Amino acid sequence: MAYNLLKGKKGIIFGALNEMSIAWQVAEKCIEEGAEIVLTNTPLSIRMGDIQDFAAKHQIPLIPADATSVEDLTHLFQESMTHFGGKVDFILHSIGMSLNVRKKRPYDDLDYDFLQKTLDISAISFHKVLQTAKKLDAINEWGSVVALSYVAAQRTMFEYNDMADAKAMLESIARSFGYIYGREKRIRVNTISQSPTMTTAGSGIKGFDSLVDFADRMSPLGNATAEECANYCVCLFSDLTRKITMQNLYHDGGFSSMGMSYRAMHQYNKSFDNEDKK
Ligand SMILES: NC(=O)c1ccc[n+]([C@@H]2O[C@H](COP(=O)([O-])OP(=O)(O)OC[C@H]3O[C@@H](n4cnc5c(N)ncnc54)[C@H](O)[C@@H]3O)[C@@H](O)[C@H]2O)c1
Repeated sequence: MAYNLLKGKKGIIFGALNEMSIAWQVAEKCIEEGAEIVLTNTPLSIRMGDIQDFAAKHQIPLIPADATSVEDLTHLFQESMTHFGGKVDFILHSIGMSLNVRKKRPYDDLDYDFLQKTLDISAISFHKVLQTAKKLDAINEWGSVVALSYVAAQRTMFEYNDMADAKAMLESIARSFGYIYGREKRIRVNTISQSPTMTTAGSGIKGFDSLVDFADRMSPLGNATAEECANYCVCLFSDLTRKITMQNLYHDGGFSSMGMSYRAMHQYNKSFDNEDKK
């Protein structure tokens, strides 16, 4: 059910690769809620993913940009403003990648060139997006910028590796830039800390199935889906959340406040059944 929450609003969505992508779901919800959007991803992801079909179906511009390149970002904002005939109202940063995770380098044997790339792609790119937008004065007053994070920024999660460091930095950038952007331009900047979700990036993490299951058992409301995350993004892009800024907002069914749940305890106890019978 649509509420027209984004009627008349214009936005840029980074990171839709395929139907599983959180950004894909956000793009669909934004359109449903009346927004006009521009999609962007790296040239490689545009070739490899399904995003060209999505853009063609909805007749949306798809502008290639590597979010680590200020030159590409400048081009993206300029093209988007030309397309919209003015500034944008919202931006979704839905970007993450770690070569250490991909190449299975453990946290105590990191490749430091890979680490630099992880930080640049998954965190510093958010600063680059914000700084480029600000220099070009590309966001309207009361605009909203959201990036996607994960609870591993606060708590150690087995095998999340250097992405935990990237997420901690991402959340810090939201606070530091949020202060400046709020004070000078009344633009809000937040991160949403989402439940583990079966996507291309998510499933690259070793033991991801178990992590999804554990989080689901621990969360009183169960894991939040990509579609539910998209609903939350729409709320944050809308005028109903104008005074929310510099926050890391958990969207995880309650996981981040839990220590142990009945369902997780039940499963844990089951693992002792055979031993008890010996
Ligand atoms: N899936 C999860 O469990 C989960 C949980 C919490 C947060 N997140 C975060 O959500 C975001 C989206 O991930 P997803 O799970 O939808 O996976 P996804 O693989 O669908 O999306 C990741 C996107 O990042 C893009 N990307 C990579 N390098 C880029 C670059 N240099 N420039 C521009 N784009 C680049 C990819 O092309 C891809 O579209 C990420 O920040 C991820 O860390 C995911």
